[in-house]
Amino acid sequence: MKKTRKIKLARHAGFCFGVRRAIKIAEETLAFKKSPIFCWGELIHNAHVVKNLEKKGLRVVENFKNIPRGSFLIIRSHGAAPAVFSAARKKGITIINATCPFVQKAQKIAKDFYQKKYQAVIVGDKKHPEVMGIRANTKNSAIVVSGEAEANKLKKFSHIGLLIQTTGETELLKKVEAILRQKTKNLKVANTICLNSFSKKEEIKILAKDIDILLVIGDRKSNNTKKLTEVGLAYGIKTYQIESAQDIKSQWLKDKIKIGLTAGASTPDIIIKQVADKISKL
Ligand code: F3S
Repeated sequence: MKKTRKIKLARHAGFCFGVRRAIKIAEETLAFKKSPIFCWGELIHNAHVVKNLEKKGLRVVENFKNIPRGSFLIIRSHGAAPAVFSAARKKGITIINATCPFVQKAQKIAKDFYQKKYQAVIVGDKKHPEVMGIRANTKNSAIVVSGEAEANKLKKFSHIGLLIQTTGETELLKKVEAILRQKTKNLKVANTICLNSFSKKEEIKILAKDIDILLVIGDRKSNNTKKLTEVGLAYGIKTYQIESAQDIKSQWLKDKIKIGLTAGASTPDIIIKQVADKISKL
């Protein structure tokens, strides 16, 4: 007799607090303001959501060239450099800040390290807009390290302030902390990993004990989706990262009964549902 396939959906799969908040801010702004509305970069890292907002009138920009005076500028959930805020003020553009409060907290901590003359070190992806925004709060003096190898190469400093990208990993923070203890006598550590990101990864640990494969749904640009995939693989589960139901290959599911499902913080419920429906049909 053919066994029925079971889908185990992670409790925290999909939108996090910061993403929900940013979308609500953008939708309310689009509904109530008449002037042109721009967004500094993509509001969240999900093409489906960004496209929907564009249809409602949101225009994604990365410079001030075509933003007329009197417009509204929404700051994406990943935040922006302080220079963006000051340039907008100078040009008579109203800022609506949709930066996730957890990202704002990391920016504040970095600024504080800078003002207290601690060499800020950020564990993260140096090209990610969140990390670039945090670093800009240290007048771009913060050093970004992706992991232990880069941390090992750092020189000694009298004072170091360590923080991490909000979607980073606790274990990695601990490892870099241990390395930096050899580089300074004055180390301050701020665990800036957001709770949602932490919970999503912890859930995979639990799911891993009782699934045959794991599907992680999210946009390729989404850092936290990428991290969830890495966690799945690190626990030895066959893990596939997909953007939508169309990406599922039927051979992945062959002879697999328990299918774990999770999704990055910018993945809408509708896409998760479409994936679950497709798995049930295959
Ligand atoms: Fe904010 Fe964490 Fe989401 S930093 S945007 S609540 S993944």
